[in-house]
Amino acid sequence: MSHESDGDQRDVRRKYALNELRRTQLRSNPAMQFKLWMDESLATGQLDATAMSLATVNAMGAPSVRIVLLKHYKAHKFVWYTDYRSQKGNELAVNPQASVLFYWRELERQIRISGTVEKIAQHESAAYFGSRPRDSQLSAAASTQSHVIESRDILAERVLQLQFSDDVVKPEDWGGYQLNAHEYEFWQGRVSRLHDRFRYRLVEGVWLVERLQP
Ligand SMILES: Cc1cc2nc3c(=O)[nH]c(=O)nc-3n(C[C@H](O)[C@H](O)[C@H](O)COP(=O)(O)O)c2cc1C
Repeated sequence: MSHESDGDQRDVRRKYALNELRRTQLRSNPAMQFKLWMDESLATGQLDATAMSLATVNAMGAPSVRIVLLKHYKAHKFVWYTDYRSQKGNELAVNPQASVLFYWRELERQIRISGTVEKIAQHESAAYFGSRPRDSQLSAAASTQSHVIESRDILAERVLQLQFSDDVVKPEDWGGYQLNAHEYEFWQGRVSRLHDRFRYRLVEGVWLVERLQP
C-alpha cells in the first residue's frame, strides 16, 4: 500500500564524467591537495563552496550531522564558528571526534576529513566576531542555538533590545572550533560509478596514501 508521504526516486540518476584523479596528480601533503581543490571550487564559482557537513556523535553513540561554513584552515586545522551551547557543542564536549564533508556537485567531487575537535582561543573568536556584519552579530547574541523557544517574536524582541548598544560583544559561549585532521579522503566521480578515491592516513608521522575501491 502506498501513502501520500511515499516517494520513489530510483530513476533519478546522472553521469559523473568530468574529471579523473590519478595518483600522480596527488600532492604528498593532503592539506595541499585540499587547498588545490578548495581553490578550484572557489575559482569555478561553486555555490556554498565553503559549506561542509559536520558529523558529531553524542554520549550514546548516536550521530548527527549539519552544515557549517569553513572560515579558515591552516596546517591540517579546519575552523568554523558556532554557539558552544548548541547540540553540536554539547556533543563535541563529550566526544571530540568529528568528521566533515565537502560536496562540490558541479565538480563531481567530495572530500571527507576526520579528526579531533577543540575550541580555538577566545581572542581569535572575538577577532572573527568583530569582523562579522552587525546583523549577524546581533542574531548570534540574541540566540542560544539549538534551544527551544516559544516564538520568533521573542527572538525579534531580543534583537531589538540589543540594537541600542553601540558595539555588540561576542557572547561568552560563541566561538570557533578547529578540527585537527588525521585522515582525508578525496573522491572524484567517474563513469559507470567506477570512481577514484584516495585516502591519506597519518602513520607514524607520515601521510600514507592509498587508493580505495569505489
Ligand atoms: C549553508 C549553511 C551554512 C551554515 N553555517 C553555519 C555556521 O557556520 N555555523 C553554525 O553554527 N551553523 C551554521 N548553519 C546552521 C547549522 O546547519 C545548524 O542548523 C546549527 O548550527 C545548529 O546545529 P546543531 O543543533 O546540530 O548544533 C548553516 C546552515 C547552512 C544550511
